[in-house]
Formats: sequence, C-alpha cells, structure tokens
Amino acid sequence: GPKRGVMQRFTNQLQPRASSFKVAVLGAAGGIGQPLALLIKMSPLVSAVHLYDIANVKGVAADLSHCNTPSQVLDFTGPSELPNCLKGVDVVVIPAGVPRKPGMTRDDLFNINANIVKTLVEAVADNCPDAFIHIISNPVNSTVPIAAEVLKQKGVYDPKKLFGVTTLDVVRANTFVAQKKNLKLIDVDVPVIGGHAGITILPLLSKTRPSTTFTDEEVEELTVRIQNGGTEVVEAKAGAGSATLSMAYAAARFVESSLRALDGDGDVYECCFIQSELTELPFFASRVKLGKNGVEAVISADLQGLTQYEEKALEALKPELKASIEKGVAFAQKQP
Ligand code: NAD
Ligand code: LMR
Repeated sequence: GPKRGVMQRFTNQLQPRASSFKVAVLGAAGGIGQPLALLIKMSPLVSAVHLYDIANVKGVAADLSHCNTPSQVLDFTGPSELPNCLKGVDVVVIPAGVPRKPGMTRDDLFNINANIVKTLVEAVADNCPDAFIHIISNPVNSTVPIAAEVLKQKGVYDPKKLFGVTTLDVVRANTFVAQKKNLKLIDVDVPVIGGHAGITILPLLSKTRPSTTFTDEEVEELTVRIQNGGTEVVEAKAGAGSATLSMAYAAARFVESSLRALDGDGDVYECCFIQSELTELPFFASRVKLGKNGVEAVISADLQGLTQYEEKALEALKPELKASIEKGVAFAQKQP
C-alpha cells in the first residue's frame, strides 16, 4: 500500500483509551480558544471536545472535526445551547472574555470579564457541578474568587476543583531560565506562586530544578521578565490582543495534567491559583498535587527556605493580591 506519512503514523498512535474524558471550552472561537481546542483534540485522553461561544463556533468546530484524531467535536452557540455543552463534561476551561491592549492592566478587564465569568460559572454549577473548572479569563486574581462565590451561592462549591490557570507563568519561567542559564529546556522546572498579575506573580528561582544558582542581577532580571511576560506580548501585538498561542499551550498542559489525575496517575503536580491556607490570603497560587478529586495536597515545602529576595517579594505582593481577591468577592456578593 502507499507509504504512510508522518502525521498518519502520529495520529494512529492516538488510540482511544480505557478511560476517556469530555472537555468543554467556553470562549472556543477566540484567540486562545481555537488553538486550545486543537491541542485538546490531539489528546489521547479525550473522547469529546465541546466548543462553546456566543458566535463563530460552528466554523471552528467544522474545521477542527476534520482532524483524524479519536475525539468527537461538538459545537454550541449562545446561552440557549450552553446547558447541553456542559452536561456530562469532566473539565470546563474558561478563556471567555476580553484581552488587554497596550497600557491596560489585567484589572482594567474586570468590568467586562467579571460578568462573563459569573454567568458561565452559574451554568457550570447548574449542569456539571462535579467538573474541574479552569479559569483563564483575566483578572484571574479576581475571577477565581468570583467563581468560588457563585458556586457557593449555588451550593456546589468544591474548592479542590476550582483552578485559576497560572501555567503560563511556569511555562515562561522555564523558558526564560533555560535560555539564560543554557539549560536543556525539557529539564527546567520553576515553581511560580502568588497570583497572576504583575508583582503578584512570584517565580521561586531558588527552587528551580535542576538546582541552579543565579546572581542577584539574574534573579532581578528574570523575575521582572517573568512578571511582565504578558505585557511583553501585549506590547508586541500592539492592540491585536494578548498571549494566545503560548496560553493555549499552557492551558492544554494543565488540561492534560488534570485528565491524567482523573485517570488515576499518582504523580501529577502543577502550579495553580486556588483556595489556600498556605498564607493568610484566602486564594494563592502554589504547586499542588492533583488527584481524582482535584487538589490532593498543597506543596507547602516550596515556601520554606526562601531567599531574602523571595521573602520580600512575597510580603510585597500580598496587599495587591488581597485587594484583587476582595474585589472579586465583593462583586459576586453584591449581585442580586
Ligand atoms: P479573544 O477576544 O480572542 O477571545 C475571547 C472569546 O470569548 C471570543 O471568542 C468571544 O466571543 C468569547 N466570549 C465573550 N463573551 C462570552 C460569553 N459570555 N460566553 C462565551 N464566550 C464569550 O480573547 P483571548 O485572547 O482568547 O483572551 C481571552 C481571555 O483570556 C482574556 O480575558 C485574557 O486576558 C485571558 N488570558 C489569560 C491568560 C492567563 O494566563 N490566565 C493568558 C492569556 C489570556
Ligand atoms: C498573560 O499573562 O499573557 C495573560 O494574563 C494576558 C495578559 O493580559 O497579559
């Protein structure tokens, strides 16, 4: 017969597995949603990808459905189709909302995105309350607390299953550190804690694996670059939006980790922004162990033995993170 191409051989490796999962993407026609849907469609752990948006999702789904990987692609347009999009799904990823333009902070997105996240999470509560919920929409430091309040109001809040996606901060930290120190990319892992905006993003360079030493200048330069990674992309895109491809890559990694955890893999660790008792703040990003029920353990050891620089940065980020959390909670509580 004809010689098989590389892609054919690749896709033939993607055999359906004993357990397979359904993943919904809300905001699937957007800059993040489209490449994220593609990456999820390539996962051997996925049996169905449910794509939801307020417009343009039919075309995205038709296009994606032609990829000969095992998962099914279903499309859902507008609020009337949202319940069916959500029924029976294991993981819901939410990148719906407006992105930044140059000169804006993530908090400048609050007024629009807070309402979008609130509405979508209400539907999640009504239709798939047991699903893992991955919040990408900014400002993550506020939208996750909003989601928590909405779930509480609906009586279905499970703090172990609500995640603010901060994987992109880890992805950036790994990339920038590997470049600076000439390390093999695949080996580098830097935990990033705190939140997902400006100085609330705190890479713990002292905890880099493999163990790596940095000069004070390198620490300062790398920390600032990781904290400003989003702004670097916003400025380069010059009004056309914020990170989409690297974000889709990062979100797909977090989805894959979640599915591996759901599938019973006992060795899954990711940084994410969750309800937390690690510090005095009610939400905090840190490394966690993921299991079938969501967060199985918080890796508190990462916060021990910090450098003076990290200790200082940790204290400095707390007021801003606290204010962003409280803003989200207040928004959700004042709603009728
Ligand atoms: P985009 O404008 O390209 O896409 C957003 C999509 O959301 C659009 O297709 C839009 O139709 C859809 N949408 C709007 N309201 C909706 C609703 N009520 N229900 C369903 N869908 C709705 O934006 P983008 O570049 O994909 O960014 C999306 C969000 O992700 C932004 O808020 C951005 O700041 C955030 N973001 C977060 C991270 C992170 O690390 N957590 C990284 C990058 C971007
Ligand atoms: C990012 O970190 O790239 C996102 O949060 C998008 C942004 O506004 O910077």
